[in-house]
Parts: sequence; structure tokens; C-alpha cells
Amino acid sequence: MCGIFGYVGRPVDAADMVLTALRRLEYRGYDSWGVCIGVNGHCEIAKSVGKIGDAVLDLPDSGIGFGHTRWATHGGVTRENAHPIRDASGRLAIIHNGIIENFRPLKASLLTAGYHFVSETDTEVAVHLVARYLGDGADAVHVRRATASAFSDLRGLNAIIILDQVTQTLTAVKKVSPLVIGRGPGGVFIASDALALAPHCSEVCYLEDGYIAQLSEAGVGLYRADTDAPVTPTWERLLIDHRAVELGGYPHFMLKEMSEQPEVIERISRDGIEQARQLAALIRESYGAFFLGCGTASYAALTGAYLFSRIARRHVNFVVGSEFMYQEHFLTNRSLVIALSQSGETADVIEPVLAAKQRGARIAALVNVRGSTLDRIADFSLYLNAGPEQCVLSTKAYTAKVANLLLTAHILNGSEHVGRDLLWRAVDGVRSVLTPNFSNAVLAVAERFKHQRSLFVVGRGLSYPTALEAALKIKEVSYIHAEGFAGGELKHGVIALIEEGTPCLVYSPLDETRADILSGAMEMKARGGFIVGISPEEDAVFDVHLPIPDVGDAAPLVMAPPAQMLGYQLALLRGYDPDKPRNLAKSVTVK
Ligand code: AGP
Ligand code: GLU
Repeated sequence: MCGIFGYVGRPVDAADMVLTALRRLEYRGYDSWGVCIGVNGHCEIAKSVGKIGDAVLDLPDSGIGFGHTRWATHGGVTRENAHPIRDASGRLAIIHNGIIENFRPLKASLLTAGYHFVSETDTEVAVHLVARYLGDGADAVHVRRATASAFSDLRGLNAIIILDQVTQTLTAVKKVSPLVIGRGPGGVFIASDALALAPHCSEVCYLEDGYIAQLSEAGVGLYRADTDAPVTPTWERLLIDHRAVELGGYPHFMLKEMSEQPEVIERISRDGIEQARQLAALIRESYGAFFLGCGTASYAALTGAYLFSRIARRHVNFVVGSEFMYQEHFLTNRSLVIALSQSGETADVIEPVLAAKQRGARIAALVNVRGSTLDRIADFSLYLNAGPEQCVLSTKAYTAKVANLLLTAHILNGSEHVGRDLLWRAVDGVRSVLTPNFSNAVLAVAERFKHQRSLFVVGRGLSYPTALEAALKIKEVSYIHAEGFAGGELKHGVIALIEEGTPCLVYSPLDETRADILSGAMEMKARGGFIVGISPEEDAVFDVHLPIPDVGDAAPLVMAPPAQMLGYQLALLRGYDPDKPRNLAKSVTVK
């Protein structure tokens, strides 16, 4: 889940360059951070707990450096556990993404052999292993072989980079966890995300499993990890415009990305038709199609299951990514797995996708980050084209997934033009809930709820997955317990929690669910619930009405932004950072 960045080239203020790049990657993990540069024959390291903020490093110029932003898995959030971590001699330093699943036996054997540990991390095992294999090996080939040998001892999905200040090299190897190498006029670079390379490089090469890369002043060497045979790297042009990840006048990425939703839907209605046709064809040919995704992507997938059922009369199964491995036994070589992921790196998605592939299933991806692991595994990728999403909360990528699925369902049904019209209605609809007036109405609700401990969101039919997504958005950014549920489930238990003043958000689009959802709202109100109706039409049961336009089956697209806005306002009122909520990370690359 961490952010990784490394550089080898002519001597510059490498520490500052690495720190600047890490700020760009911080959404991947922000418990703690660290930078290491090779200088005067030793590894100089600066580390700190917390976000990078305005930190300034006073380190000498260097031609080699790397750094890490951590999302702790093993060992508390302390300076000692922050990466980079040195070997005993101080010659090597490591940064690592992932979990070394067998770190306990490895650590036990290293302790027996006399190695001393300074951190509680699983990571430290790897640097001592490299040092053990390296012995007094003096050249870059030795470092490479030692790193490959150590890596082959590790179990799990990991990426490691070793900085060796003797040979002035960075040596990188990975399994599933992503690493991208770049080259540019200033030198050679490596990062966990191509975004961080954009200001420096015009060409990138995605490091594949089974290969080991070594970066030095001479450039990039690529080798097979098992035989050390050299391989010619495949370079591709880097198409990211790094200005797309600037705030551009907005106070937060969350607000910026929410505001971009109309243009994202507009782009899909204009440029997304061919991709949606291809996805529709794959679903048509398949014998059993299954959605999978995690978090917000799972709610987009569930929305898709409803849309395909009502629009295309097609059953597309839905399983949460992290549960898929326990339910994959039915897959055959005629199955289609449709994986949804903004980042394309979510381990709970990648693992089942790899397992499904092994069973011969075809893989379609709805993915935002081109070149990501999922994109490269999939047989077909439908690109969300939502632009970089920097806020840890997913907003515009959710909208993009739902918009694409709405369009695909209509194409499958032979009613493409209806799908396009709905998207156009949604563009205007989303614009109307992003106006200052609407946002002031949401702010008034947020003021009322800001001290509440708990909040409920209900929906039925198409708005049920929206209720789940709304609750996730609110809880992850405001830390108020928010629970979404199907309106019909109220009386099966949840209503026990409603008491005087309990905030209840009720989604009530003008569809077949309206009468039942309103009667559920009455039941909550009768027990003291404070009802906020998100609906095109006012109703007497609402204590507050947030008016949304009626856009038919595109309703999920206009129903999500009010909850995004409510979460955002609550976070600000409660004094939290909406872009980097506690304990979370944007790319969840560990299981
Ligand atoms: C939602 O706001 C996110 N915090 C999270 O649930 C996210 O959607 C999930 O981790 C999946 O990410 P992905 O789309 O990159 O796979
Ligand atoms: N498992 C390592 C740790 O806890 C790496 C975590 C990460 O990927 O940030 O430090």
C-alpha cells in the first residue's frame, strides 16, 4: 500500500526530489515516511512519523536516493519501523511494499545466525537476507543475485528495492505488487505508480514478475530473476499529464474530483461507446458473468447487477473481491469475471482474478489506471478515463463505473441510444447537485449531524447499493458510524437502533420503490428518526428535503454526490483531512 520512489543519475538534491515525489504518492500510505541517499560511502536516512506535510530535508547532493511512505502492516507506526531500513553494515537499505508472509521463520533463523533487528517490521528480514547472500560481494552482479535469492525466499505479494551505496545501484524485484521504471533526461527512476514518474520521464517500463531490474548511472539493466540472463526492457511512452494531479484552485482533491463528475459522464457518453459495446459482446458470449470489486467498486458492481437485471434482463452475479476466493469453484472456461477497480492494484481483486484466470475464465476489467496490474492481467480493459483520482475516497471513479455499466446494459438490451440519453440527463442532473445552493443545503444537514455518533441510510432496488456507497463515503471521511441498508430490512432488526433524533437518509427516486421506501421512512420517523429525503419530490415524511432531478435509471449517478458532499462537509466541520482519512490508503495492495 506504500508509495515508493527512487532515483539514480547525476548528483542533485536527491533527497528533495524524492520527498517531492513521495508527496505525490502519499495517498498510497501516510503513517510515516523516510528518505535515504547514498553519500560519502554511506546511506544517509531521514525518517518521520505522520504525513510529510511541509517537511524539508537538509541532506547533501547525491546521485542516488529513494524513499517510502508507509501503511503499516507489521509493527507500529514508529520512526524505527518507517522505511528505509538499513542492514547491519549500513551498506544496504531497503524499501518494501507488501507483507512477507513467512517473516516469522525467516526472522527466527536470522536471529539464530546472530542478526540484530532494529525494527518490528517484516521488511527488515529481507534486508538482512540480502546482506547474508551478498557477503562481501563487491559488484553490482553480486548485489543483483543476492537480492534475487533473498526475494525467492519470501512468500506473499511483495516489491522490494535495495539501495547499495558501494555499487551506487538500486535493485528492484517484485511479485504482483507494482513497480514502474522510468527514464528521462535527468536519470533513471523507479516508483510504485507512474504518476510519480510523470514530471521526470517520458518513457516507462513496467517491471514484470520474475524479472529483476538494476538502476545505475549507466541506465537500467533488466534480467531474469532466476537465471540472471539479461533481457531487453520494453519502453512505452508515458501519457500522464502531471498537471492533472494538481489541486487547480480547489482546497481539496475530494472537492475537485466530485466537481469533475459531470465531465466524466459526458466523456463516457461521447467516447465510451466502443468500449461498452465490446464489454456487452463479452457478456453476451459468456456463460455466467460475475462482478467483483472492493469497497466503493463493489457498490458500483452491485449497482451494475441491478442495472443489468432491469435493463438487459441479464443476471450478472456479484461477489465482494475479498470473498471471491471462497466462491470461485463454479468458474469454467466459459465464465466471464468483470473486475472493477479504480487503481487496478487492489490485492483482494488481483488475487481472485489470477485464480479465475487459472480456471480458464475470461477477465474483463473496468479500470482507471492504465498499465496497472489489473489492466495488464485482463483480457479486455474498459478504461474509466476519469483522470487521476488522488483523494483516498473514490468519487468520480465510482460515477465512471456506474455510467459505463448503465451504457453497457442498454447496449446489451439493444437500446444504446436510450443509454446515451440517460447519460446526458445525468450530466445535467449531477451539475444541479453540485451547485452552491445545493451544497449549502447539505451544509445545513452536516451542521445538524456533526456531533452524532451514528447515522443510517436506506434505499431499495437501484438505490440500495447507493445507500451502501453513501454510508461508506460518510463513515470513511467523517468517522461517524454510518450504515446503509435495504429499506425492506428495517423491520428485520435495524429499526431497534432508531431513537429520538437518529439521522436517517432516505433515497426515494421516482421508481417502483417509492411507496415502500416512504412507508419505511414513516416507520423510522414514528420512532424518533430525523428524516432527510434525497428525492426528486418532496414528501410530508421528510424533515429535510434534498431535491435531486428525476433521471430515470441514471438515478444512482445523481444520488451519490449528495452523500459525497455530506461526507466532505462533515469531515471539514469535524476538523478532519478529507483527502487522507486515518488508517486508509488509496491503493490497497495487501490482503
Ligand atoms: C472508497 O472511497 C475507497 N476508500 C475504497 O473503498 C476503494 O473503493 C477500494 O479500496 C477499492 O479500490 P479500487 O477501486 O482501487 O480497487
Ligand atoms: N509490511 C511492511 C511494513 O509494515 C510494508 C508496508 C507497506 O507496504 O507500506 O512496514
